[in-house]
Amino acid sequence: MEVPFVIFVIFGGAGDLTWRKLVPSLFDLHRDGRMPKKFAIIAMDRAQFRDAELHKHFLDGVKRFSRKGKVKSADWKNFARHVTYQQGDFKDPATYSNLAKSCAKLDKDWKIKAGHIFHMATPPVMVGIIPKMLADAGLNRDRVCARLVVEKPLGHDLDSARTLNRTITESFHESQIFRIDHYLGKETVQNILAFRFANPLFEPIWNRRYVDYVTITVAEEVGVEHRGGYYDHAGALRDMVQNHLMQLLCLVAMEPMVSFNADEIRNKKVDVLRAVRPVSHRAVQQCAVRGQYGKGRFDGKKVRGYRQENDVSPHSKTETFAALKLFVDNWRWQCVPFYLRTGKCLPRQVSEVTVHFRGVPHQSFPPDASRRWDLSRLVLSIQPEEGIVLGFQAKYPGPRMLLRPVDMRFNYEESFAVPSPDAYETLLWDVMNNDPTLFMRADQIEAAWQLLMPVLEVWAETSPRNFPNYAAATWGPAAADLLMTRDGRNWPLPISLAAQEKKKTSHGRRLLL
Ligand code: BG6
Repeated sequence: MEVPFVIFVIFGGAGDLTWRKLVPSLFDLHRDGRMPKKFAIIAMDRAQFRDAELHKHFLDGVKRFSRKGKVKSADWKNFARHVTYQQGDFKDPATYSNLAKSCAKLDKDWKIKAGHIFHMATPPVMVGIIPKMLADAGLNRDRVCARLVVEKPLGHDLDSARTLNRTITESFHESQIFRIDHYLGKETVQNILAFRFANPLFEPIWNRRYVDYVTITVAEEVGVEHRGGYYDHAGALRDMVQNHLMQLLCLVAMEPMVSFNADEIRNKKVDVLRAVRPVSHRAVQQCAVRGQYGKGRFDGKKVRGYRQENDVSPHSKTETFAALKLFVDNWRWQCVPFYLRTGKCLPRQVSEVTVHFRGVPHQSFPPDASRRWDLSRLVLSIQPEEGIVLGFQAKYPGPRMLLRPVDMRFNYEESFAVPSPDAYETLLWDVMNNDPTLFMRADQIEAAWQLLMPVLEVWAETSPRNFPNYAAATWGPAAADLLMTRDGRNWPLPISLAAQEKKKTSHGRRLLL
C-alpha cells in the first residue's frame, strides 16, 4: 500500500520518547521503503537546536534503538534530509502560525494537501493545551488530513480522563484523534484477533463451557529506572492495568467482529469493558492486591527497593505490583474468573495470556495413567518470546497407558523468519494511513477508568501498612498468590518457547504447531 504524503510534526522533538521510539521507528520504516514518497518530519521543542545538532542526537538514538541495529551512513543521510527542527514555546501562538506556514509551504511545493500529523510526545500537561493552539491556528480544520496523536497517560482517573477527552474533542473530531497504547502495535497482541477469528478451531471452545479461568501476566524485570518522578504519582494500576492489561483482556474476551472495520472492532472491545462486573468498594480487598518491591537480589547482585529509587519518596505508598480478579458478565464468560497481574522488579520479563481449560467430563483412564495430568491450556506468549503454546495430554511411550502433559509450540521466529516490527513502527504507519483500528477511542479509555475507580479509591483511602511487601526479583506479594490459591488455583509458571530443545532431549520428541 502506498502511504500518502505526510508532514509529521513532533511536539517534544527534543524529548526522550522522540529519541528512543519515534525517530528510530520512522527511520526503520524509511529504510524498509514504507515511508511516503514525500514526507517531512518537523521536530519542535523549546530548546535551541540547529538541524545538524538535532541530527547528531537523533542518529545516536537510532544507533541504539533501531530494530536493525547497525546504521548505514547512506541510509541515515537519506532519512535525515527529511528532518528539520523548529524552536518554539508550545504556549505561544506564534509557534503555531510558524508551523502553519511551514505546512502550507510544503503542501504548495508538493502540489498536494499532505496528511498533517501532530504527535504530542510531551509531558501530559501540554496535552490539554496544544490541541486548542493548533485549532486556533486553523491546523485542525481538514478532518481527513489533520490528525492528532496522543500518548499516555490519558488521565489520572475517570474525571481527569473525561476532562482531557472533552478538551481534545473541542478542537479535533474523534475521527482525527489517535490515542496510543503501544501494546496494540505489538505483533503478538494483534495476532490474538488472527488466532481467534481466522481459525474455526478455537472459537467453539472459547467460552464458559470449556474455559475454567484465564490468567494475564505482564511482568517486568526492571524497576522504575529513571521514571521515578512520574511513576510515584501513577503506580502499577494506572501505568499498566488501565491500558495494556485492559487491552489484552478485551482482545481475549471480545465477541467476533463482523468486519475488520476500526469502529466495529473497537465497539466489540468496549463491550467487554462494559460487561466487566463492577467491583464494589467493599469487595476491593477480596479481588485486588497491591504490592511494592523492597530490596532484593537479582542474578546475585543487590537491587535497591522502590523507596530507594531516584525521585521516589522514601515513604512512598505507590504500588509497583497489582493483581485483580475480574468477571465478565455476559453469556460467553459468566462465572469464568480473569486473573490479571503486573509488576516491576519481578524475576522475569514476560507477558502472557493463558486460557486454562476445564477437565474432561468423565475420567476414563485408570488413576495410575493420569497421575501427572495437567489441565489443557493455551498460552499466548506476547513477549519477550513471541508465540503460542498449546498444552495437552499425550500417551507416554511404552507398553503401559501413561499420560503426560506435552506442548505444541508456534514460534514466530521459526515460522516466519522475519523480525517483528517495533510496535511504534506499526502504529506510526497506521496514523500515516489514517487507520484508527489499533488506537483507543475516548469511550474505551473512560470505560477502563470507570471499572478501576473503586480500586483506586479504596487504595487511596487506606494506607498499605506492609509496604514494601515483596523482595525485588520475586513474584510479588503473598496476597497475590492467595488470590489464586483461595480458588484452588495457582499463577502459571511462564512458558518458554526455547524450551523445545530441552524437551527434545527429555521426552525424545517435540511437537510443532
Ligand atoms: C509503559 C509503562 O506504558 O509500558 C512502563 O509506562 C512499562 O512502565 C512499559 O515499562 C512496558 O512496555 P513494554 O513494551 O516494554 O512491555
